[in-house]
Order: sequence, then C-alpha cells, then structure tokens
Amino acid sequence: MQAKAKYRKDYKAPDFTVSNIFLDFQLNSKKTIVTATSQYKRLNPEAIKLRLDGHSFQFSTIKLNGKDFKHFKQDSESLTLDLSQLKENQFELEIVTILHPEKNTSLQGLYQSGEGICTQCEAEGFRQITYMLDRPDVLARYTTRITAEKSKYPYLLSNGNRITSGELPDGRHWVEWNDPFPKPSYLFALVAGDFDLLKDTFITKSGREVALELYVDRGNLDRAAWAMQSLKRSMKWDEERFGLEYDLDIYMIVAVDFFNMGAMENKGLNIFNSKFVLANPSTATDEDYLAVESVIAHEYFHNWTGNRITCRDWFQLSLKEGLTVFRDQEFTSDLWSRSGKRIEDVRLLRTAQFAEDASPMSHPIRPEKVIEMNNFYTMTVYEKGAEVIRMMHTLLGEEGFQKGMRLYVEEQDGKAATCEDFVSAMERASGIDLTQFRHWYSQSGTPELTISDSYDEQKAVYSLHVSQMTPPTSDQMEKVNLHIPLKIALYDKSGIPLTLENEGKEVNPVLDVKQTEQTFTFTNIHSKPVPALLCDFSAPVKLNYEYSTAQLVTLLRHAENHFVRWDVAQMLYSMELRRNLTRHQQSKTLEFSAEILSELYQVLDHYQQDPELATLILTLPKVTEFAELFKTIDPEGITFVRDFMVRTIAESLKQTLLKVYNEIRLDEYRVTAEDITLRALRNLCVSYLAYTTVGNNIVNKHYSYANNMTDTLAALSAATKAQLPCRDSLLADFESKWQHDGLVMDKWFALQATRPDEDVLLNVMKLMDHPSFNFNNPNRLRALVGSFANQNLKAFHAIDGSGYRFLTDVLIRLNESNPQVASRLIEPLIRFSRYDGQRQTLMKRGLERISELEKVSRDLYEKIEKALQ
Ligand code: TRP
Ligand code: ZN
Repeated sequence: MQAKAKYRKDYKAPDFTVSNIFLDFQLNSKKTIVTATSQYKRLNPEAIKLRLDGHSFQFSTIKLNGKDFKHFKQDSESLTLDLSQLKENQFELEIVTILHPEKNTSLQGLYQSGEGICTQCEAEGFRQITYMLDRPDVLARYTTRITAEKSKYPYLLSNGNRITSGELPDGRHWVEWNDPFPKPSYLFALVAGDFDLLKDTFITKSGREVALELYVDRGNLDRAAWAMQSLKRSMKWDEERFGLEYDLDIYMIVAVDFFNMGAMENKGLNIFNSKFVLANPSTATDEDYLAVESVIAHEYFHNWTGNRITCRDWFQLSLKEGLTVFRDQEFTSDLWSRSGKRIEDVRLLRTAQFAEDASPMSHPIRPEKVIEMNNFYTMTVYEKGAEVIRMMHTLLGEEGFQKGMRLYVEEQDGKAATCEDFVSAMERASGIDLTQFRHWYSQSGTPELTISDSYDEQKAVYSLHVSQMTPPTSDQMEKVNLHIPLKIALYDKSGIPLTLENEGKEVNPVLDVKQTEQTFTFTNIHSKPVPALLCDFSAPVKLNYEYSTAQLVTLLRHAENHFVRWDVAQMLYSMELRRNLTRHQQSKTLEFSAEILSELYQVLDHYQQDPELATLILTLPKVTEFAELFKTIDPEGITFVRDFMVRTIAESLKQTLLKVYNEIRLDEYRVTAEDITLRALRNLCVSYLAYTTVGNNIVNKHYSYANNMTDTLAALSAATKAQLPCRDSLLADFESKWQHDGLVMDKWFALQATRPDEDVLLNVMKLMDHPSFNFNNPNRLRALVGSFANQNLKAFHAIDGSGYRFLTDVLIRLNESNPQVASRLIEPLIRFSRYDGQRQTLMKRGLERISELEKVSRDLYEKIEKALQ
C-alpha cells in the first residue's frame, strides 16, 4: 500500500494554470471518448515539468500545440510532461481518454445512474474523466460539447448556458454548453438522459429572469413541485438576508438514484440524490419535506459560498461547507422555527460530531493531514464548522457579521480563498479581535467547560467560576485555550429572570471565556440564583455544572430560552438513565423519578402553550444519544434502561397521551409549521401509546386512517418498536404497496434493520436478497446496513461478534465496488475504544480482516490505519 499523506503546511501555488478548456464527449454507456483541449499558462517561468492528475487511462494521443507529443511519463495517478524544450509560456494540450460509465460503480467521475449518465467530480473525481490540474485553485472557463444517441439521451446538460446544438444523420445529436465563470474542475458536471422536466422562472432583485429547470426520472413529476418551491424560496432568502443574487440565466437541478452523498453544487447544474428532491404527501414524511428544502437551499447557497468564492486547497473545505451549512441553518430558522432548528442541529452535533471528535478520525475543522480527501466530508468540517461560523456571528452580531460577509465577497469574488481570508475579513469589518478565536480552526476535540458558582448574600454578589479544558485527541496531544462565547441567564427561585449587572453597569449575557480559569461576577443579586448556562448552545462544548433536580425543574418550567428548556429536559433524562443503568448492572429493579414524571405530565397537559417545544421535550433521547454520555458504552444496558423509561412514561401518562391524541385533529394534509408540529406531537403520542394495553388497537387504526406518509410511517415504526401483534401485517402491507419504489422502501428497510427482535441480523441478511434491494445503490445500503450498524446498538454490538462479522463482509465487497460509501459505513467499527475488551477484540478482528486484503482502497486504509495505530 503506497497511500501518501498530504499536509496543509506543504501548500504551494501551482506552477501552471489552465485558462480555457474545451471538452468533447462522445457519450456512450459502454465506451465514452473524451477529448480535452486546454489552454495552459506557465506561471512559474522556471517550471519544466507539468504534472497532471489522472487515473491510468487507456488513451490514444497527446498533442502539444497541435503536434503529437511523446515526452511524458505515466503512472497510476498522474501524467508528467517534460516541457524543457518548450519556449512559450502559453500552449495548448489535447488529450483523448476512454471511459466506461457502465462499469463505474464508484459513482465518482463519469458513471451510469439508472438509464442516464452523470458525473460527480468533488473532491477529486475530475481526474477520472481526463488528465487535469485537478486542484481547486486552478480556475478555468469550460466549454462542453456532448454528442449522444438522441432517443436514449434526449437531454444533454452541462454547466452554464446552452450555446448551440444540432442533429447527426446517425440518430445522434449534440449540444454545446459554455460556462462564463471560471471554475475549478470539481464544479464541472455533465448529465445525459431522458427525464420529466419541471420548468419555472425566478426574477432576481435586479430584475433579471432566471430559467429554473428541475429534471426527474420519467413518471416522477408529481413529486417535483416541493423542490422547485424550495429553490425559489432559497433564491429569495439569499437576496434578502445576505444581499446575494444569482448570476447565470439558467439554474438546473437533476435528481439521480445512484449518488454517494446528498447533493452537489456544480455551477448552474446541481446534481442531487433523488432522496433530496422527490416529495409528495404519500411518499415523503414531514421530515423529508424539510430535508429536501434544506439541501436544495444548501446547494443553492454554494453558488456564492463555494462557487464564486471557492477553496484554495482541500484543507480549506470548511471555508465553503461550514459557512454554507450555517447559511442553510439560518434559512430554515427564518422560514420555520428558530428554536426547533437549533435543537435539531445541537442534537446532531452532540451525538455525531462529538463522537467523531472522540474517535480515531478526530481532526480540526481545517485538517492538517489528509490521505483520502473524501474522508474529510465530515460532521466536524460541516457541522462543527458551522458552529464556528455561528460563534463569530454571536460575537459580531448580525450587523457586524453581514459587514464582514460583504467585505469577504468584495475581496474574494472569483478567487480561491482560505479560512484565514474569511476570519480576517470578519475581523477587519467589525474591529473585533479574533486572534485567539482562530484556534478553533486548528484545534480538534470537544472543549469542556467546568462551572461552579458562589453566592454572597450579604453583598448580594453572585459569581460564576468557569474553567476550560480540551482533552487530548488521537491526532493532537497538546491543547490551547480557546475563545469561547458563553451565553448565560440568571433566574431567581420562582423563575423570574434577573438583570445581569456589575457595579451598576449592564453585563453582556455572552461571556468571553478565554483563560484556563475565569470568574464572572454579578452584583445586586438578592437571592441565590439559578443559572441557565450555554443558552442557545452558544459554543460547541461540553458543560459540567452540578445542577440539582430542583434547579433543573425551575429552568424547565421558566427559562425564556427554548433551547435551555429542552436542554435541561435532556439532563433530567440523562440523570435517570445513568442512575438506572447502575441499578441494572447491580441487578436491582429500576425506578423512575416521580418528580420528573410529574413534570413531563405538566408539559404534555399544557402542550397548547407551545406544542413544538412540548414535543421536543417529551421526545426521549435515542440510545445512540444516551451512549455518548459514557466513556465505555454498555449497549445492552442502555437499550434495556431506555426501554424501561419509554414504558414507564407511556404507562404513567397514558390517559393524557390518549386525550392529546384524540384532541388533535388534522384532516387535510398540509405542509405548514403548525400542522407539522401537531402531527409530530400526535405521532409522539402514538409512539408511547404503542407500549400500553391500547397500543395494538390505536396503532392499527392510525395506520389505516393515515392519509400521508408521516402518519403511515409513525404507525409502522410504533408497531415495530413495540413489537405489536399487528406489526407483521402492517409491514407486509407497506411492502406490497411500495416494493417498486426504492426511496419509499428505504424507510421499510431502515425499520427492519432496527427491529428490537433477537433475530434481527438474520432478517437483515435475508433482506440483502430482497427484490427491492440493490447493493450498488448507496441509499439502499445505508437504509439497511447503515441503520443496522449505526442505530441498532444492541444487535450490532452483540457479544458473539455476529454484527461485526456481517459489517466486515459487506465492507470487503464495497472496498472494491464503492470505497467512498465503504468508508462511511466503516465508522462504527473503528470506534472500538468505546467498548469493553471483549468487544474491542472482535471489532479489531474485523478491521484486520479488511487490512489483509490484497488491495485496500485509500479511503478504508486511512481509517483502519488510524484506528489500529
Ligand atoms: N459539496 C457537496 C455538498 O456539500 C458534498 C459533496 C462532496 C459530495 N463530495 C461529494 C456530494 C461526493 C456527492 C458526492 O453539498
Ligand atoms: Zn456543501
């Protein structure tokens, strides 16, 4: 294995660049011929070697300035031209490569998806199409000419504007596209196929008309409208909140079934996983609707933060991804519910990102060392990256932040920029010193804030003693102090908010934590207050403060900040889980605090005050969320105790759950904030009631009366989780109805994989042969295998090692067919250090089996090496 690491510190500006590239595709699913004619410029007059990235293509010719050129060396990943004889600093290269889209199961480069052909170039897929300076700081103007059989591929699409087209006598046709904006190769895209097309227009704030085109598989037009509306809302919002307007005359989105990730922001031609486009009431849940809207928004927002301003090198990935996630979060917050969105994002960050930072893959949001770039499209770069942007927003305020954005865009438009360019623009625009704040870019790991307090009744002075510490991570032993914005509030015992002041001066609720230990003092406090700490989750840190149950209850009832009310409910649940896990491990009977149950009852009974918050508070953390509380995870114990908690809540709140269930009436299905909220609460009631004596009856009815996928799936899920008698017939009914629809069947596969039954693994293995399953489709694989390994904590970590063996077998197959997907699926296996010795041994055995393969992909190699080190 000759996997070589690249280091951020080794960045060097390119010796050559490409100003223009003309790509000719003679397209055919079996054999495609690509002729790339590029105008090169020598930037460094000393440079005589031109090294181009590219796979070991079968290729016929290389021409330099129109003449056959022979002075080159080829290896498995590059072509190096000896230009010592060349006097000119500008020259033309013509290279012909031959591709086989049908055989390309990696879904990178040029590949076949269903009946169509498409591309995926980020991060380094363009080098699978032709030889190129495949790095984001080489910006070129692209002209693309596509020729293909007209009956099979009536639509031929690429970036930019459609320039000319024509027909050939042999039944083929061609289209030529030109993208006026210079771009890096990773933003190139091509699509060919037969589609249904939904068209619309958008008038920009300066009055230009933009043609909007949404391409979906034939027969799916009735699932396209929501994505189109989402796109228009995104375009409008970016103009209003960020002052950013779309720049081309056309914006196209194509939905494909075979796709490694969510979607891709190729200039003017976004390519989407169909999961994030298609939605109608009978196939998509409320959650799906919101996910479609946010991914559409995310890719659209990349047009400025990603495309107009791109990354200098891949170590800067968070420059575009962290910022664009922040932007799509703000979009969803502005359109739906700010606190609801915040809670959802924090939930994801705390489980998935914190776990990643505690794993062998721990890295800063701007990594220092990379073997396979695909491995760094992570929770850390995306979600923690967005938190870092959000902290700057908190420190600067909306006005200061927008001033910084304007300066950033003014300075960097049309360029390949760095994270430092962004922070520097924010700093100069606001006048706020971000020197210490910059460590967030270079330091990995989850910082811990430990807080204690003291109160002097005589002087009416209250003090918070805050200390910070970031534990060492696998990639970085030494840690420094960070600049942490800590937003707080104080309440008196009856829940009345107190003014924050010090010696008559008002104190900003966002405290600047910068040192190892700091004390913040508040005066004129006349009784010992209850502190609300880390309001709105003002920093991505762990908080240690010894709350009493009474304090938590005060905050649960009275905190003004919705995030805080949800967060203290999480703490109460965590206390119950911990306490009972210990009892379980000591073979004692479990007990649920009556005080907490009575608080939950109050929340449910008064749901009308705020149905959304009530639903969020009453939703018990998942086993995977509870697991993050522990250094060493007990999969069986956590599952057992959580199950006890669900049943206890269900039993003791049964009458009220029933009352709320019957009270909420939603006849016609509408995707509005109000209806989504009420539906979620009603379905939460179903999920609890399933565990009571009325469960089978209610769930069965809920399923048969459902007029939308949200309710259908809620019933199906409740029946499966509570193992109700009606379960098998409901699962069978759903299967016979949707077996021809892969995206809908994914919901069914995911439920099958998370069944609490003892024989769930056998069931999963059997389903790998189900007619609706397809090993080469990443959505199917993630729904079945991914859900099993990531969500079914107990079965995946079965002490006989069967779960690990199963995943390892899948990974060995995927290592060859699709390494990028393999590398995402391997995650639960490399996190063995969080389990007991017996499980660790079994998990490592799986990793060793993979590493003994003759050819391990770079993607898997990088992770296994880190894990076993
Ligand atoms: N840039 C894409 C996004 O955030 C994600 C992406 C990176 C991607 N690499 C990919 C998508 C490979 C599909 C395949 O939005
Ligand atoms: Zn993105």
